[in-house]
Amino acid sequence: MKLLFAASEAFPLIKTGGLGDVAHSLPNALSELGVDARIVLPAYRTVLGRLGTLRVLGWLTLASGHEVRILEASHPEFAAPLWLVDAPALFDRSGAPYTDADDNDWSDNPARFATFCEAAALLATDALSLGWRAEVVHANDWQTGLLPAFLSQETQPPRCLFTIHNLAYDCQFDFGTFQALSLPAHWWSVEYGEFYDRFSMLKAGLTFSDLITTVSPRYADEIRTPDFGYGYAAILEANANKLVGILNGIDDDLWNPHTDPYLKAHYQVNGKIRSAKHANRQALLEGLAASPAALAHDGPLIGSVGRLVYQKGIDLLLAVIPSLLADSDAQFVLIGAGEAKLEQQLSELAETYPDRVLSYIGYSEPLAHLLEAGSDIFVMPSRYEPSGLNQMYSLRYGTPPVVRATGGLADTIEDATPRGIAREEANGFVFEEATSAALQKALMRAIELHRKPKQWMKLIKIGMREDHSWRQSARIYLQHYRNE
Ligand code: ADP
Ligand code: GLC
Repeated sequence: MKLLFAASEAFPLIKTGGLGDVAHSLPNALSELGVDARIVLPAYRTVLGRLGTLRVLGWLTLASGHEVRILEASHPEFAAPLWLVDAPALFDRSGAPYTDADDNDWSDNPARFATFCEAAALLATDALSLGWRAEVVHANDWQTGLLPAFLSQETQPPRCLFTIHNLAYDCQFDFGTFQALSLPAHWWSVEYGEFYDRFSMLKAGLTFSDLITTVSPRYADEIRTPDFGYGYAAILEANANKLVGILNGIDDDLWNPHTDPYLKAHYQVNGKIRSAKHANRQALLEGLAASPAALAHDGPLIGSVGRLVYQKGIDLLLAVIPSLLADSDAQFVLIGAGEAKLEQQLSELAETYPDRVLSYIGYSEPLAHLLEAGSDIFVMPSRYEPSGLNQMYSLRYGTPPVVRATGGLADTIEDATPRGIAREEANGFVFEEATSAALQKALMRAIELHRKPKQWMKLIKIGMREDHSWRQSARIYLQHYRNE
């Protein structure tokens, strides 16, 4: 099975969120199943800086007459070779992959990702005569939405899957831009990419692909409803026969408390979990320059890592922290970056309660790992969550998650009712309403159970023993690649 896996980010080369994790760990899991994969990425400046020897595979001529260079590299973190679409005018710049220094979308995103997709389609069909032709192309999110569209122009196109990681993100443009990109005229139609008088790259991905997948079964159902559909519910409903939800997995080598190089103390399910977690907590707090009083505090540590955006319900959490501090002995550590207003609110809370609320505004892989290990409880009050990875990292690190019942959170977390614990099915705490009050109640339930060490340890161990690796989901993808 020859697979071209196309993504706009891949850990550890470039990552803004969970897509980066998936584009690293899913192709690796597929390689283990014998899939002959290539991963194609834009040659961002940051990515080129992180790769060693680059080999020039050749130059592709696009329909516009422009040429792009294709580079090949290998990297110890990837089982498959990496192919890079090198178009310096589009990708050789400082800043984030999709946004400029002011956090606005790059104004030439339509051209950047149309070029990426056209080049990827040519690579899939062996336009460079390398003797490698993809049987399946796997595209991910709006950045690759035009890839199935370009493939549709081939006489015998490879099968193309399009995965929705987050329906709320898209790139839409007007007719003038559509013309400037010289895209085939019939793509601008309700049947294909036209979306309320604009062109949607995401819609093109949905309509031109052979199969649409999304990253949890629950989210696959949710996005067919107006509340979660971001305008696409009707299109997804009409395409329900080619829409499936496949839960993400985690890389259990990278996220393994027994070997994780970022941890102060290692542990596993049958070892000294409590003392190791305590050592990691101290290291985490020291890493955040905590005061002696913060270091000495011994109430449950509630942690969170994530993008500070509406999706993640972080505003619900910030709103209840003061009353949780009054009603319990909990301490909080929050790591994240995102909307300026939320960053500021978080900083203000940390200033007001220096011994009980600690924050890191920014992106830190080491702190994210230490937080998973050093916290007692992990909180994810997402308004929607296509899959979510942190709740699965938390289970593996013995940090029961408190989550809202949505998307992949609902599909992975079972509420800690006494019956659920007795049956060894419960692994965290679940609440329904996206309100601060419901979140507060769930957090208080977690804090109360944490006071019962035996039951708490039982809950921790249920989660640590679960297998959330990619093995199972990678097999399901393979079946869909084979159209079984
Ligand atoms: P999303 O893709 O919506 O951001 P996921 O839960 O799927 O959510 O994945 C988020 C990934 O990004 C996780 O690996 C998480 O640890 C990481 N992450 C998010 N924010 C930060 C941060 N500020 N520092 C370190 N890692 C982060
Ligand atoms: C998205 C979603 C997240 C998911 C990730 C990887 O960014 O917000 O829930 O885990 O993609 O699929």
